[in-house]
Amino acid sequence: MRVCTIGTGYVGLVTGACLAHIGHDVICVDNNPEKVELMKSGHSPIYEPGLSEIMKSAMAANRLQFTTDLGAGIAHGEILFIAVGTPPLPNGSSDTQYVEAVAKGIGQHLNGEYKVIVNKSTVPIGSGDWVKMLVLDGVSERTKQPLLVGGGDSTHAPEQFTPQFDVVSNPEFLREGSAIYDTLNPDRIVLGSNNQQAIDLMLQLYAPIIDRKYAEDTSLPPVSVLATDLGSAEMIKYAANAFLATKISFINEIANICERVGADVTQVSKGIGLDSRIGNKFLNAGIGWGGSCFPKDLAALIHTGADYGYDARLLKAAVSVNQQQRTLVIQKLQTSLKILKGKTIGLLGLTFKPDTDDLRDAPALDIIHILIELGAKVKAYDPIISPQSSTNPYLANVNLVDSPQTLATDSDALVLMTEWSEFQEIDYPHLAGLMRSPIVVDCRNFLSPIKLSESGFNHIGIGC
Ligand code: UDX
Ligand code: UDX
Repeated sequence: MRVCTIGTGYVGLVTGACLAHIGHDVICVDNNPEKVELMKSGHSPIYEPGLSEIMKSAMAANRLQFTTDLGAGIAHGEILFIAVGTPPLPNGSSDTQYVEAVAKGIGQHLNGEYKVIVNKSTVPIGSGDWVKMLVLDGVSERTKQPLLVGGGDSTHAPEQFTPQFDVVSNPEFLREGSAIYDTLNPDRIVLGSNNQQAIDLMLQLYAPIIDRKYAEDTSLPPVSVLATDLGSAEMIKYAANAFLATKISFINEIANICERVGADVTQVSKGIGLDSRIGNKFLNAGIGWGGSCFPKDLAALIHTGADYGYDARLLKAAVSVNQQQRTLVIQKLQTSLKILKGKTIGLLGLTFKPDTDDLRDAPALDIIHILIELGAKVKAYDPIISPQSSTNPYLANVNLVDSPQTLATDSDALVLMTEWSEFQEIDYPHLAGLMRSPIVVDCRNFLSPIKLSESGFNHIGIGC
């Protein structure tokens, strides 16, 4: 089928590339010319394992193109994905200006062919109807006539352009670092629309994925598809992220109690995770969640509740527990080193999770800010964020080094921020000898306390 994805961030580019990979004819549109040029040369502007490979093969098969020309993309696609950013505003609500611009742009370029407009970006609940209105605004701006929708005296109405489209909410559940896998092996596909024709086209689009044709395990039963109304589909996205974030804050709250009573949260997590009603995923205590989704989606959901007179106390508590975890790490450093002023702290990992280059709301950024405020010197080593590559202003005062050995040299403590698998392979006995004081605060309980203490380190975990 002919597809257009608008916005080539983590979601738009992955969605476009995967749909081309499974056989569709895709044009990806982005308003950033540098990004488009980069993608035309087969390179991905984001780090996502496996993405550039499927981009290159889909481009070679002539099924994936990139352009800044929104009109060309819209003319091409019978399915149009809106996947532009919806970043949080200071008050927690979503900044939907980009969705507005794109929805109106679509209205201005509709060509009479029936199209399905898909909300892939996480948009505030109740946006489906709002996007439809914006598209119609775009149409009427183009025809410069007041658009008669429904009633109106058609006998005298001037030649009207009757747009043929429906809006579908199709929330994404991609985790950064495993976005390709998650797209081709979804637990479920959620479709929100009150129009069966639109639902049927989406089922046709996703058929190869539903039938597990590109799955890691092709023998699995077909993917569950939930077709529901627009508002419920939008709420499913927020509720899923809010639950996962709350689950993490729950185990962090338990970790904080474990520390006081001498229990080991990694054991507690294992023990409760064996209950099938709880499950063992998203129960890793540590410095908590960051990234471009959980913080944004919880803030938006809390804000939506407030807009309708509901105080989301549980969700607010999940957010405040999460924020507190970050200060906890500083307290642990102060307990070990007493005064941090003048001390050198080395951060192992900067990104908000492994296998991504995304620093958005990474806990490391807050830790850096607090350490600098306290007068400490901060060094950092990250497998993806190299000294040359980083232009992030938050890292301006950080001495980015190119190896764990350089990081450890003359440092007073290490802080493991991100559980990159290569951090298991480091020669810790050697590192201990390079440090002023061999202390490591393990913010992800990722390293073996026994192995680290045998290496000469004072290993400090979270909740254990
Ligand atoms: C986005 C949404 O922010 C998030 O709500 C949703 O959950 C997933 O999709 P992401 O893909 O990370 O997340 O967005 P981002 O990385 O900000 O990329 C958006 C892209 O859209 C950028 O490449 C930007 O250049 C492009 N864009 C933005 C347009 O093409 N047109 C616009 O008008 C605005
Ligand atoms: C999340 C959702 O998982 C995904 O479904 C949604 O589409 C987008 O948001 P993402 O933010 O990319 O994906 O990463 P995820 O793996 O969910 O981790 C989110 C944060 O939680 C990370 O900072 C991670 O370090 C943290 N985390 C995760 C924990 O602290 N403990 C855990 O047990 C799991």
